[in-house]
Amino acid sequence: MKKMTVAITRKLHPVAFQILQDAQLDYVVWHKELPPTASELLNFCTGHAGVLSMVTDHFNQHNIPALAQQGLKIIANNAVGVDNIDLDQAKKHKVLVTNTPDVLTESTAELTIALILALARNLVGSGQFIKDGKWQTWGPLDHMGMELSGKTLGILGMGRIGQSVARKMALAFNMQVIYLKQTALKQELDFPARPVDLATLLTESDVLSLHAALTKDTRALIGAKELGSMKKSALLINTARGALIVQAELVAALQAQQIAGAALDVTDPEPLPATSPLLALPNALVTPHIGSATREARSNMAKLAAQSLVSYLKEQKIPANIVR
Ligand code: GLV
Repeated sequence: MKKMTVAITRKLHPVAFQILQDAQLDYVVWHKELPPTASELLNFCTGHAGVLSMVTDHFNQHNIPALAQQGLKIIANNAVGVDNIDLDQAKKHKVLVTNTPDVLTESTAELTIALILALARNLVGSGQFIKDGKWQTWGPLDHMGMELSGKTLGILGMGRIGQSVARKMALAFNMQVIYLKQTALKQELDFPARPVDLATLLTESDVLSLHAALTKDTRALIGAKELGSMKKSALLINTARGALIVQAELVAALQAQQIAGAALDVTDPEPLPATSPLLALPNALVTPHIGSATREARSNMAKLAAQSLVSYLKEQKIPANIVR
């Protein structure tokens, strides 16, 4: 029988390599700084039983059937979101898909809160003001932001990360939490929060934070109409997926000051070109998809992804973090 091997599509935390070595599961690593193109991805992964993939790798109807035919059994995605993988195709071709839930929840929630605070108090703009040599005096009307205490935080996507943000902002920052009503919450919330419909979420939020997975139902959920119904003083935060928002319509809303500001850790497309109009806006703050970028989260993600491959390929066990 042919030996089972794994393709790892980027250099990542060495803990993953150690786990595979300990389990005597051989692997190859894509060593270039940039991710493989579509054809490089297909070539690189062909013949391997497992792939340890990144959000930048797209698995779809063009490559899953061929890879499955050549022995692919599992894609362990080094991310909690799996919108880069066509799950229907994976199911059809009996390829298991796993993700990395839980281990990145706190890091992503902390980044979200950093963005809320940075935007509410104009940290980036006011710091730049000094660097530009514009600080002449302390001014009683200068650099005013928004106090968060007592304001309403809207959460769209009350999953693990949404709950972690909401809990911290309710308990530590005294924000009133509302969230988009969803069919079932996995467990009862351990902080005060009120479920509302989308129209109420949009009109009542002083800060609206997006944490929904990107699916056909959530793609382009926030466009001109939704932005138009938000408060003029509202802040929009997105640490989930760029395509939840119709970006051109957000740019227009920010230009027209229909909402006060937006902080985006995710954009559409990624990477965001330096020429994007978003980057020229004083009321937009953009970071390069760094929600899980802490030493703790990234090492635990690599570990979980590698363990998933070992469980399935070496121990014939279905990992708990199976997505399909
Ligand atoms: C990152 O975006 C993730 O889904 O983990």
